[in-house]
Amino acid sequence: MNKDLLQADSALHSEQDSDFSKIVDASISRRRFMQGGASAMGLFLATNPLAKAVAATQPDSKLLGFSKIPTSTADTFVVPKGYIAKPLISWGDPIIKGTPAFDENGRQPASAQAGQFGDNTDGMSFFPLSEDRALLAVNNEYTNYKLLFDHQGKAMTADDVKKSQAAHGVSVFEIKRTAGGWEYINDSKYNRRITANTEMRLTGPAAGDDLLKTSADHSGTKVLGTFNNCANGETPWGTYLTCEENFNGYFAKPGGGQDKHLTRYGIGDDSKYQWYKSDARFDVNQEPNEPNRHGWVVEIDPMGPSSTPLKRTALGRFKHENAAVTIATSGHVVVYLGDDERGEHLYKFISKHKYNPSDKAANRILLEEGTLYVSRFNAVDGEAKGTGEWLELTQGKNGLTPENGFNSQAEVMIFAREAATIVGATTMDRPEWVAVHPKTKTVCCTLTNNKHRGKKEGQPVGGPNPRAENHYGQIVRWNEAHGDNSAMSFKWDLFVVAGNPTVHKDFYAGSANINDENMFNSPDGLGFDNDGRLWIMTDGSYSNKGDFAGMGNNQVLVADPDTGEIRRFATGPISCELTGLTFSPDQRSIFIGVQHPGEKVASHFPAGGNSKPRSTIMVVQREDGGIIGA
Ligand code: FEO
Ligand code: CA
Ligand code: CA
Ligand code: CA
Repeated sequence: MNKDLLQADSALHSEQDSDFSKIVDASISRRRFMQGGASAMGLFLATNPLAKAVAATQPDSKLLGFSKIPTSTADTFVVPKGYIAKPLISWGDPIIKGTPAFDENGRQPASAQAGQFGDNTDGMSFFPLSEDRALLAVNNEYTNYKLLFDHQGKAMTADDVKKSQAAHGVSVFEIKRTAGGWEYINDSKYNRRITANTEMRLTGPAAGDDLLKTSADHSGTKVLGTFNNCANGETPWGTYLTCEENFNGYFAKPGGGQDKHLTRYGIGDDSKYQWYKSDARFDVNQEPNEPNRHGWVVEIDPMGPSSTPLKRTALGRFKHENAAVTIATSGHVVVYLGDDERGEHLYKFISKHKYNPSDKAANRILLEEGTLYVSRFNAVDGEAKGTGEWLELTQGKNGLTPENGFNSQAEVMIFAREAATIVGATTMDRPEWVAVHPKTKTVCCTLTNNKHRGKKEGQPVGGPNPRAENHYGQIVRWNEAHGDNSAMSFKWDLFVVAGNPTVHKDFYAGSANINDENMFNSPDGLGFDNDGRLWIMTDGSYSNKGDFAGMGNNQVLVADPDTGEIRRFATGPISCELTGLTFSPDQRSIFIGVQHPGEKVASHFPAGGNSKPRSTIMVVQREDGGIIGA
């Protein structure tokens, strides 16, 4: 077992114990909450009409038809009995004509990677071309230098930086359904690599602002590339949304001297990717505005292989996780957006103009103009439910004034995190994916974990973030007023509080719908299928020790939102995260991403033997061709 992981676990234990007693002493309501432990949580759920379903423990869901699987520590991808899982594509597989095949020697040049499937597969969407053909648009979040280079990143040349940049971004490629399952087509006219050097256009309220101008772009509208593309979204008008998450990690300000903006967004004096050493635009001393051009949601037309990706500044700049799009009853487009960092916020965008199902071209501009809001969760002390409201992020309102540093709407969008603080947004336990139920329009968001909760200034325990030293995570859900996703208020509860009932007997055991057969930590990927099954993917500790004993490798679970039942559907190989999911429209195929197998502990997934581990998309189908999960 990896030593670092063991040490990390014991550190968690001791920190949690001391923190626990502090919290217990902190207030009467907290004492009630913590001392009551699991039974108190059960009580909250039993007395909470919104969360009543969560108390269900009977495995009688009509929605879930598959046999649950146990946890796994094996170096393989496991699915339930009656299901088949096959690799579709792995990092380095060529998708552009004339590109060489993957070679694991780590010596292929940037030009090869630029035509190959990028690294670290993440969020993805399925765009049908016909019944048996489709395009997959897939994020390639980041890359691991230990695998990408034979020198493991210790002797970076300018071409190596270009290769690293080419391993990032988005891959679009055609797939076809054959008798043996889905295959990718390596020379389709649609196939495309979008990398950290692809030209894009900035649109919306911040486009053209002085803060977005650089020595290479005096217009403030023309930007190169997208990177650290985490999860995704898709629009009803057929475009793909890719979300720029930890963009800060690629910039450096050597010598230090960060201002408050760089500090809030986490840009330091060095960068492990080393791009700034041979590409001046990543050196903040040379190009102070380049970081402002990243951290956005980017809209891509997957059907137009030469179309220009559009960065949508109306959706705010932060560490974007995914973009959950729905059409409100009012006809406006609503996009829910998480900012994945401890103590950051949960947002929603509402378009100015309405969606028009019969005018595809008009819909193309809907993400250019609108209003961004950030959430505030109100809570009755000690209760795992409450109301909430959406706070407007518009210059001149809610304290977003020149006196507070906001001179324009462009500044509000570029420094959205700082604007959210001024309006009084709730600090959350790392908002990851948001998903909207296709019929009820209930919204769920994974709050993956937060070791700072209850310890750091401004991150008090309570409301939807009910545990100090929260390393298990929870899923918050809410219903907007009058069932209208463009409403300004909502009612929330916790759908599940993850935990380990074999280790803890208090609130860290998890909510009533967690048991020793379905426990997990750090929910991250999230999505509803068309029937309303809630798919949960984890990105947590796979140490299988201490607080995480018995949890095994990262996993995929499926929940019935009505009964609260949660059942394990898949387990990943060693030292991977499972992230990215999409379905064929007939729901008879699900695509699941296996990201960074072997990240910390050796893996040889998917090829086995002595091979290098490679991030891979798996396709899962049923032996009888039935609906996945049913
Ligand atoms: Fe890329 Fe927050 O996960
Ligand atoms: Ca994630
Ligand atoms: Ca995560
Ligand atoms: Ca990841």
